[in-house]
Amino acid sequence: MEPETRLKPGGKFSSLPARVGGAHTSQFKLLANFMKIWHGYFLAALAVALFLTGCNKPSAGSGASSDTIKVGEFASLTGSEATFGQSSHHGTQLAVDELNANGGVLGKKIQLLTEDNQSQAGQSATVVRKLISSDGVVAILGEVASSRSLEAAPICQQNKIPMISPSSTNPKVTETGDYIFRVCFIDPFQGTVMANFARQTLKLQNVAVLTDVKSDYSVGLAKFFKLGFTAAGGKIAAEQNYSGGDKDFNAQLTSIKAANPDAIFVPGYYTEVGLIGLQSKQLGLNVPMLGGDGWESTSLVPIGGAALEGDYFSTHFSPQDTSPVVQGFAKKFLDKFHESSDAMSALGYDSVMILADAIKKAGTTDGAKVRDALAAEKDFHGVTGNITIDASRNASKPAVILAITNGVFQYVQTVAP
Ligand code: PHE
Repeated sequence: MEPETRLKPGGKFSSLPARVGGAHTSQFKLLANFMKIWHGYFLAALAVALFLTGCNKPSAGSGASSDTIKVGEFASLTGSEATFGQSSHHGTQLAVDELNANGGVLGKKIQLLTEDNQSQAGQSATVVRKLISSDGVVAILGEVASSRSLEAAPICQQNKIPMISPSSTNPKVTETGDYIFRVCFIDPFQGTVMANFARQTLKLQNVAVLTDVKSDYSVGLAKFFKLGFTAAGGKIAAEQNYSGGDKDFNAQLTSIKAANPDAIFVPGYYTEVGLIGLQSKQLGLNVPMLGGDGWESTSLVPIGGAALEGDYFSTHFSPQDTSPVVQGFAKKFLDKFHESSDAMSALGYDSVMILADAIKKAGTTDGAKVRDALAAEKDFHGVTGNITIDASRNASKPAVILAITNGVFQYVQTVAP
């Protein structure tokens, strides 16, 4: 199935000379000479024809008229959140390969065009514009990080290209407009889940909050956690900020230590969370840390090590779930990529499958009709649970709480919406 996928799109025109060149194999010299002359004219005429019909210059939505259905994906395949993009991409890839092995969608193979935004601000807008206006994709899948989904969403909305974020949880993502969907829960829910877990299960009274002010996700999740925790009778002992990319958190952690909290809520991404864990323990701040889905990465424990023992975070999926659907997915994923599945890969998989279902139901790849079919999705059986797209184009789904025990993520409990 690999030929259906490419990381960097090449020109459609590139395959033509080889095919036309087949005429040179003729055994009749006369005919060959005759063909040589006409070959030139033929190529020129073909180029003009292709230019006129626009085949060489796809416009928005033209992915439908070719023999494949072009779907664009943008992801952080490299950079500070590389594991997010890689996991999500693998889940996406698995779903596309499965669909294509079963005949594709509407009789056509899905061609996945994946672009790397390098985890960098500004890059998502650039690559999504390219996917829509030069590649002519019919839909966009992405991103994991909310700030990057928020960059791309207005572009998809303007071009009337449905966008499905697999795992961005900030409410603003789908508020961008009626073409923007997600297949995961949102942070008012996730924040409340961790607030109640902290207050009711762990019986914590005073919690400090350390927020990445450069991340829409972090700012939102901090806000919803604080609301939930104070509503449940807890107190916010201290509030400190950092910026994604920072490496030294000693100033913030020293202030937090002075406030003597029972725990620290860190709604950040794994690279900084790992360092914050390390530095807090080095300062003698020996309280557990709590966080959200942004912690989930195979790189978290290698960065934070033993400093993260006994910490908890919420996420969307656990490969330890014993249900047949999860076990089936976890095994397929492990067989193909020789790595364990996680929230991002499972949600990436579900984003493709629900898009394919919507295209089938719409009977076309027309953006407006696919949008309507996505908006009408009810009780779609995903590997991350049943997905019903609500009036705000979000999915209401259970959250999973994991603990870090002996350096591995251990399933603790599932919390229904
Ligand atoms: N929910 C996070 C965000 O919105 C991204 C994320 C999802 C990270 C799932 C890890 C796992 O930015």
